[in-house]
Amino acid sequence: MNKIYHFPSEFLWGGATAANQLEGAYREGGKGLSIADVLPGGKVRLELLAGASFNFEIDKEKYVYPNHDGIDFYHRYKEDIALFAEMGFKAFRMSIAWSRIFPNGDELTPNEEGLKFYDDVFDELHKYGIEPVVTISHYEMPLHLVKAYGGWKNRKLISFFERYAKTLFERYKDKVKYWLTFNEINGAIHFPILSLGFLPDNKNTRLQHIFQALHHQFVASSLAVKAAHEMIPDVKVGCMLIYAPTYSFDCHPENVLHALQEGRIFNYLCGDVQVRGEYPAFAKRFFKENGIEINIHDGDLELLKQYPVDFISFSYYMSRTVKKEKSPEEMTSGNIIGGVKNPFLKASDWGWEIDPIGLRIALNELYDRYQKPLFVVENGLGAYDKVEEDGSINDDYRIDYLREHIKAMGEAIEDGVELIGYTSWGCIDLVSASTGEMSKRYGFIYVDKDDQGNGTLERRKKKSFYWYKRVIETNGKEI
Ligand code: BG6
Repeated sequence: MNKIYHFPSEFLWGGATAANQLEGAYREGGKGLSIADVLPGGKVRLELLAGASFNFEIDKEKYVYPNHDGIDFYHRYKEDIALFAEMGFKAFRMSIAWSRIFPNGDELTPNEEGLKFYDDVFDELHKYGIEPVVTISHYEMPLHLVKAYGGWKNRKLISFFERYAKTLFERYKDKVKYWLTFNEINGAIHFPILSLGFLPDNKNTRLQHIFQALHHQFVASSLAVKAAHEMIPDVKVGCMLIYAPTYSFDCHPENVLHALQEGRIFNYLCGDVQVRGEYPAFAKRFFKENGIEINIHDGDLELLKQYPVDFISFSYYMSRTVKKEKSPEEMTSGNIIGGVKNPFLKASDWGWEIDPIGLRIALNELYDRYQKPLFVVENGLGAYDKVEEDGSINDDYRIDYLREHIKAMGEAIEDGVELIGYTSWGCIDLVSASTGEMSKRYGFIYVDKDDQGNGTLERRKKKSFYWYKRVIETNGKEI
């Protein structure tokens, strides 16, 4: 007999995306260039993310740029939202491209055409009773802020972001209740280029710059919480973390201690500031030992304390196993962060280890620590899909992956965790953030486009489409 899980009646089932990975139309509607627009597809993207030197220019002779056209959601959002509605989505997580609203990022007045586009998208969602969950900044800051200001290292970005966030709150106050400030804010500790807008430079200043820039984002996030609460009744603003429970490779106390230390810097430092409103005690030693001195202005700490987030959203793809002394052969790749191979886990075609129990652990760890509502806003399996001769796509591997993770959420709810929703990543195939590939597919809906940009962009329902529809219909009772 299959166990029946009990999800709350208002549970927000849905899917998640990010503007730069699906909209396309990168130069339409008055949009400015963003950092995502200059990142090429293929292996070279990972090298850039890891810190190779880079001039932030587009070079179409040398590279392909899959984000430029994405999956053309910009023109096809009505068709796509109708498919989400057919699956019964209660929520749709999407992001707003900052450079559609403020093409350079530092203007005083917003671009009306950009604002209008999202008005239309929100109206279309509401037509079907789908709740938008909106990320304000998801790996796509305006390129001008990178080139002219050096990204988030520069404190001026706080006021640009505040203006941008207030513009969104004012315009969409009747349409959006759930907001997330910065996507995977802690991911910047490893890959600053995506969200902080600068290359990780020489080793001596790398961490200094990253944590100074993160401090600016913490302040900006609190200002956004403050503004949202002043401007929108019943609003909920969340932080967004990458969460990977950190396992010790074995029970050697050195490794256990290492796992504790690695885990809390990566998983908790940002969350502690955004949720508890203060830097955790362990940060002080970490900063001291790494020569990090954060320039904190008068009033910053009070602001952080006064305006913490209302809930915690996070992405969960994998756990991470660590060991103090390791060799390169022992390593595995992963979402932003890798670790050593866990002998008990299988991995995806991209080396991301599959660990549904890790999601239950993540939920429990986060709830034990923060006692605030949790929202899983990303989870899923990036896989190669095959279109059969009859046009069907039998993605049983994806169904198996999602089923086990949904069960893990059901168990966590029984453990007492307050979980408000689940939006699986890339509910419609889109461009991969780490590799720029289309062939790394997550969707319930197949999009006919390959890594070189060829294809009709036709949408096609996969087997998982019908399965997820049933999951939502039964509120997780039939998985
Ligand atoms: C998260 C990001 O890190 O993982 C998404 O928030 C991203 O933008 C997702 O797409 C999956 O990663 P990838 O590299 O497989 O696209």
